Amino acid sequence: MKVSVKNKDKIISIEAQSSDILTTLAQHSLFVSAYCSGRGLCGKCRIRYLSSPPTPAKKEKSILSDSELEKGFRLACLHKFNENDYVEVFETKPVFSEDSGVVCADDNNSYIAVDIGTTTISASLIKDKKQIKTTRMLNPQVSFGGDVMTRIAKREKNSQQILTSILNKAIKETTDKLISLSNAKKAKEIVVCANPTMLSYFLGIDTKPIGEYPYTPPFKGEKKTQWNGFDIYIPPVISAFIGSDITAGLINLNISGNFLFIDIGTNCEFILKRNDSFYAASIPGGPALEGVGIDYGITAQEGAIDKVEFDKTLKCHTIGNKKPEGITGSGLISAIAFLNRFGIIDRSGRIKEAWEVEDIPFNLLNRIKKEGFLLENGIYLTQNSIREFQLVKGALNAGIDILLKKTDSDINNIEKIYISGGFTKSLTKQDIAASNLLNIDKEFVFLGNSALKGALKLFCKKNRVYLEELSNKIEYIEIANQSNFQELYIKYMDFV
Ligand code: FES
Repeated sequence: MKVSVKNKDKIISIEAQSSDILTTLAQHSLFVSAYCSGRGLCGKCRIRYLSSPPTPAKKEKSILSDSELEKGFRLACLHKFNENDYVEVFETKPVFSEDSGVVCADDNNSYIAVDIGTTTISASLIKDKKQIKTTRMLNPQVSFGGDVMTRIAKREKNSQQILTSILNKAIKETTDKLISLSNAKKAKEIVVCANPTMLSYFLGIDTKPIGEYPYTPPFKGEKKTQWNGFDIYIPPVISAFIGSDITAGLINLNISGNFLFIDIGTNCEFILKRNDSFYAASIPGGPALEGVGIDYGITAQEGAIDKVEFDKTLKCHTIGNKKPEGITGSGLISAIAFLNRFGIIDRSGRIKEAWEVEDIPFNLLNRIKKEGFLLENGIYLTQNSIREFQLVKGALNAGIDILLKKTDSDINNIEKIYISGGFTKSLTKQDIAASNLLNIDKEFVFLGNSALKGALKLFCKKNRVYLEELSNKIEYIEIANQSNFQELYIKYMDFV
């Protein structure tokens, strides 16, 4: 069936299948935001009907205003195309910023470092041994599922090719833009960090072996290859769940003492060093801390609430001090820490009714609404968002418990806890403790996006040799299939 799509000033005709509009658009490389992976919760996948719009779905009526519905706005994930439909789309755009991190390169050529996260893609351009510009964008594969296993399980016709092609198109367009915005020559090489599933999609390798026992990665160790006319270097891969994003991150650490490195993303990975031994483990966490899959969630960008503070009244800080547009991962942690400190949520994570809360200022009590806890005009911390956070915290703490037990390690003998994740920039130890994200009372070192920071240091030979040697010492430990995992997971979902 043929339908028409207006994208900026271009009108194209596309062949529509029986899938929802969000999926159909992604299949034709038209990326609209899909922060809840097509569950009809985030309201980000808006399109506008220029032909007669369908009757609004029930969920849609609670997200879009009457005037938006009247103007023909609908959510792409809640409708399918009908013959001769004509819609306007608003594509998601990468955000670019100036940057100046630490770089290691052997010469003054231009290079690009890319981190392909399950939820967010980040890339930086390096010129004359300096980091010049960075870009971040939502991984367009989010329309096909929030986590890697959902994407691998997609067995629809050509889904593997579609996931590969939309990812490659996004990376190609983004890297081209980085080069042109930086007035740089073609990059001599690209370092690509990603988990093994994203690496498989990037290289067009079948992802099925990662999704089924015995969970085989596409390759082990480092890899040099070609992609779209670029030389590519991929830092070492350890297992099906410990990829080049984790090993690249290790280049940022001082490895002389015992440490626990935790990379918090849609999948959470751990590297534990005890004496001379290195252990790796991973656990699925969910995308909540990347601002995805939560109500009013957005990735870390201008206008994202990244911190909640109290000074006589509640204050929401946003990235770039811009008008609040939504909540990002650090904002979610900070807001939950706030509610827990004031006793506004109970042990199970339920937002209490106003009459159940004692001894808090009236201006906070007033913010408890049926939609959730009001943070800013029209932006709520909802019960659903708290539940999504609890899934991450349950998985993280259960994973750490099992890893320590399986390796005969004692948390008291760990000197440093490194925390990595794009959202960790504005985190504090106090928010981690008050939100119960980690039930560990230690000093934390917040690394930000350690994969991208590590990739920037891998354009020199000495660091590559060091990383390859270090990676060979890491032993992968399976933790998610332990019989007591579920029990611990449920225990750690509670607040204390
Ligand atoms: S409402 Fe459609 S992707 Fe979230």
